[in-house]
This record gives sequence, C-alpha cells and structure tokens, in this order.
Amino acid sequence: MKRYYITTPIYYVNSVPHIGTALTTIVADACARYHKRRGRPVYFLTGTDENAPKVHRVAQERGVPTQQFVDEMAEVFERTWRALHIEYDVFIRTTEARHKQVVTEVFRRLREQGDIYKGTYQGWYCISCETFFAPSKIGESKTCPDCGKPLEWRDEPCYYFRLSAYESRLREHIAANPHFIEPEVRRNETLGFIAEGLQDVAVSRSGADWGVPVPDDPEAGVVYVWFDALLNYLTATGWLERGEAYLDIWPPDLQLMGKDILPRFHATIWPAMLMALGLPLPERLYGHGWWIVNKQKMSKSLGNVYAPLEVAQALADASGCALPYAVDAFRYYMLREMPTDSDAEFSLEGVETRYNGDLANDLGNMLHRTLSMMHRYFGGRVPEGARLEAGLADLFAQQAARVAEAYEAVDFPRGLREAWQIIGAVNRYYDEQAPWALMKQGATEHAGQVLYAGLIAARLLSALIEPAMPQVAREIARQLNIGEVPLWHEAQAVDAIPAGHTLQEPIPIFPRLQAKPATISGAAPAPTAQHSVSETPTTAQPTAMQELITIDEFKRIQIRIATVKAAEPVPKSTKLLKLTLDVGGEERTIVAGIAEDYTPEQLVGKQIPVLVNLQPALIRGIVSEGMMLAADVDGRAVLLHPDREVPSGSVVR
Ligand code: MSP
Repeated sequence: MKRYYITTPIYYVNSVPHIGTALTTIVADACARYHKRRGRPVYFLTGTDENAPKVHRVAQERGVPTQQFVDEMAEVFERTWRALHIEYDVFIRTTEARHKQVVTEVFRRLREQGDIYKGTYQGWYCISCETFFAPSKIGESKTCPDCGKPLEWRDEPCYYFRLSAYESRLREHIAANPHFIEPEVRRNETLGFIAEGLQDVAVSRSGADWGVPVPDDPEAGVVYVWFDALLNYLTATGWLERGEAYLDIWPPDLQLMGKDILPRFHATIWPAMLMALGLPLPERLYGHGWWIVNKQKMSKSLGNVYAPLEVAQALADASGCALPYAVDAFRYYMLREMPTDSDAEFSLEGVETRYNGDLANDLGNMLHRTLSMMHRYFGGRVPEGARLEAGLADLFAQQAARVAEAYEAVDFPRGLREAWQIIGAVNRYYDEQAPWALMKQGATEHAGQVLYAGLIAARLLSALIEPAMPQVAREIARQLNIGEVPLWHEAQAVDAIPAGHTLQEPIPIFPRLQAKPATISGAAPAPTAQHSVSETPTTAQPTAMQELITIDEFKRIQIRIATVKAAEPVPKSTKLLKLTLDVGGEERTIVAGIAEDYTPEQLVGKQIPVLVNLQPALIRGIVSEGMMLAADVDGRAVLLHPDREVPSGSVVR
C-alpha cells in the first residue's frame, strides 16, 4: 500500500530553528499524526539544506570547517524537532552521498535529453535568497525584489534548465487539478507568476567550491542550490536505488511550505523538473502564511525572532506546567493561530491567552472536574448503567467529522475550534444537569450518567487533539486508564468505557498562569495582545462548579484594593465605564459594567476591591486587566469600600 507522503521544506542550516520553520514542521507533524491515527501508513520527511553558498559563507565567517558546521547545525535541528515532539520518518541532509548521487544523475539525464543546456549567464543574483533575477525584475537600486539586499553581478558560463518549455503543461496541470496548489490565494499567486512568462533557469554556479559539482564539467562549478535542494524529496524515496519500489512512497501527497517558496520554486520549477524526468507530480502543495511580530517581518536585526523551545520553557516556568505539556501548548498555539491564507501576528500574550483560556479553563477544567467528581461520588469507578445521551452522541459524531474534514484541508484553526465545541457542550451539560445537585438529591444514577458524557468526550478528544498535542493526549488516556490513545474510528465509540472501569486520580495538566498577564513576555518586544485577545472575545471562564472549594483553590484568587485614578464612559455603551486604577503603584485598565449605577465623577478617588489575576479580556476594543467587585443588589451594583483608607495594592483575604 502506498504510504501517505508528507514533506516540509529542508531548512538552511546557517540559522537555528525559529517559530517560522517550527510552524511548517509542526503543521506537517500534525498532518502526519492525523493520517496515522486514521490508520494510514505515512512517510514524513524533513531535513536540512546544506549545500547553499550562504551556508558555506557563514561557516567560513565563523572559522569552522563547513562540513563540521553543517554537521553541528543539522544536529541542532534534529534535537529541536524531537523536543517539539516532531515524529518524522526520515531526516534528510543534502550533503549525504545518496542525495549527491541523485542530483548528479538527474543533471546528467536532463542534459542528455536537452532539458539542460549550456549558455552564459549575465545578470543579478541574490546570495541571501539564492535566486537569480531577470533584468526586468530589478530596478535602479540593484537590490533583491524579495529581500531587499544588494544583488551580485554574475557573468559566467552556465547551464540552464529549459523551464520555458513547460509553461503550457504547467498551466494545464494547475487548471485540471484544483487541489494541486492550496490555499486558493497561492494558486492565484502562482498563476500570476506563470502569466509573466517563464524564463529558463540558471542551474549551475561557476567559481563555487561547496555543493554538488556539475557532472563531467569541473569548470562549470556546482549545481544551483534550489535545483539540488528540491530533489531531496526524490532522494528520500530511494528513487535511485530501489527500482520501481520507490513508488510505495512517491509521489508526495502533501508538500508543506511557507508562501515565499511556493509560486516560483515548488509550484513551477519543481513540477517542471518532474515533468522533464517523466515522473508523477505531487498531489498537493500547501503554502501557509507567515508569522509576523509587531506587524513586522521577523528578523535578527529587529531582535524579534523567537526560538520555539524558549517560548515553551518560559510558558512552563510561568505556569508550573510540565515541559512536555508546555511544548504541546506551544504546538496548540501554532496550529490554532496558524496563518493560512494571510499572515498572522505571533505574540507571547497570545500564547498565554490560548493557554489559560482553551487549555487550562476549557480542556483542563473539563477533564479535571469529570475525574474529580467520578472519584468523589463513585470512588473512581464507572457506575452501572452509565451511557451517553443520544443528543450528545450525535453532537460528538458530528463534531468529529467536522474536525476530520478540517484536518484533511490542513485547516487546523478550524479543526481545533470544532473539537473545542465538544468541550463547551460538556461543560454546559454539567451546568444544566448539575451532577453535584443530583447527588445531594440522591439521584446517583442520573449523576453517573451525566459524568459519563465527560469521560466519553475526554476519550474522543484524546484522539482528536493528538495531532496537535501528542503528550497531552497520552496523559488524558493515562488518567482515563484506557491504555493507548484510540485510533480515530475507535474513538467514536460512545460506550467504550465499561461499567466498573477504574479511573486514575486526576492531575491537572495545565495549571493556570498565576502571575499577572504577559508573565512570559519579559524579554519580548512591545506587547501585541490585540490580535490574539480579539480572537477570544469573552475569555472563557471556567463554568463554575457549584461545589465547595478548598482553601488552596481560594488562595489562587488574588483580590487587592485599587484606587480609581480616572474613569470615563466606554463609547457606544450605556453600561460600561473604563477605569484606570492604581494597584500598589502599578497602573491597570479595567472595564466595569457600572455606568448605570455610578457616574465617572463618583468613582474617581474611591478605593475598591479588584480581582487582579483574572485573565485579560478584550471588551469593546479595550484590554480589561481585572474585575472590580461590588455588591449585587437586585442586579444593581453597590460599591464596596475599605473601612478606612488603606495603602493601594493591599491584599484582600
Ligand atoms: N532551504 C529552503 C527550502 C528548500 S526546500 C527544497 C528554505 N529554507 S529556510 O530555512 O529559509 O526555511 C524556509 C521555511 O520556513 C519556509 O517554508 C518559510 O516559509 C518558513 N518561514 C521562514 N520564516 C517564516 C515566518 N516568519 N513565518 C512562517 N514561516 C516562515 O527556504
């Protein structure tokens, strides 16, 4: 049976992994895991692009032999991916002998059949993008149209690949295969690129001494790094040494990359090379958008390049979450906020908001309250007669189908949103049915039935979230005591946890971030909460469990006395006031629903209690960082004051 073949680009080893390269790799890993969970054999390839002149140049600048440099850097990539729970099947390196053989063989074949021919190259080259540019694309400044860096003039004998000969076949293929290039915006970009007319591509560089030598012509230098690099996808299948057997992997089912390297390289040169070789083309090329930081491209000079493991570690430190689960939380953020069609803002505040909201409050809370009540009321054993209500069973099945549909489309934001509907449904069901009240009334069997919904949902979710959060999924399965995370179709069974089954003690997977918002952003560039917070309009509150709480639970609530420094109405709202508070020397903004009971003047100078460790929420475009507390008298707010003036910031306990 042919394996489902998924690839990431191979990454240049002159810089270390960052959230951009991590994005493509995590998306690929999530796709690979999803298809495996569906029971399909998968072949997942990633690796490093080591033959580029810029790699050689950086090694020389550092005074390290290039081979040693690439060996060390490839190791950094492999270690980082493993730490991010990336489960690739093959890690390819373009300095491997087997790859160089493939490049040599392909070059020879295409030259023999006339698809590669010798000419001279006169023109401009960007060493940073490793790209030749046609004179028509370059302005007076002689800078790279893609990255803006100065171009180098080249005047040298050179081999060309006859790309122009494939223009109409490429157009036809794209027209006949609507899923060949996704999302649609990339397809259009590619068609626009082809419409400008395809020029033959220079595929050798003379005077270079790092890379794959042009076969049988030592004077010609080395093979152009993109021609070399694209062939990695073929090398990894064993095309050269396995005879027809390589077809158990080839062609790629899904090639993932960022938008910058899709139209020209992966959707034009690459399929044309395969057409020239007479090989089947990839089924699908998917180009995601870019992470931007503070509305700008990431760059070393701006100091806004984030290292994925540092973000995960900071999240673990700030929350007390075990590192493997913090890594999964980072993966969740990458996929939930993934830039698909357009670019998206990456921010540490966004990571925190998703962590506290979707993971601690929603998923973590659902699992924890289900298992806690199961232990409290039923000694940790599934009671007799517990079964899932038909309405919920239908909803779970429908949501699982929607998740699958979105994952197939590489739309993880949608897939995860659909999965979270299940959590919302269970939390609402608990609130409506109030199993704690049922227990007090002696309706034990009914309470058991209600809680069974949480167990079945958690089991199903372990499978649905596994592509995003593999370790968390495993931990859920462990706490449920069901062994392995179930396969996709098994996970749909609504009676899979039998009466008498024993559950493990609940252990919180995602402790809530305790400190004030933006805890992990100490070293970050200027705050950019806007994007992510606005995606979570009402920060999901844990659906209150109407039960007694422990003193430790109470201790997590931080209430302080704040002094109101300024108050003003919130535009277009009759109920809301924006308050500027002094909390022990720290200024905070909160939005309070008291405009019908107090005027701004009545509030300024007052001392009021404020819940200060509430997750921030975006209310009418204002980030509210806490909640004032007041007495509720028939729905009207009545202010609470300390008995005498106290230092601002005093703790209430
Ligand atoms: N070596 C080539 C690829 C050759 S594939 C045959 C290359 N390498 S790269 O190291 O520059 O990594 C590129 C990948 O990282 C691309 O998919 C690119 O889009 C992605 N990203 C780099 N910065 C990014 C962001 N800021 N955001 C999202 N992805 C970005 O190109």
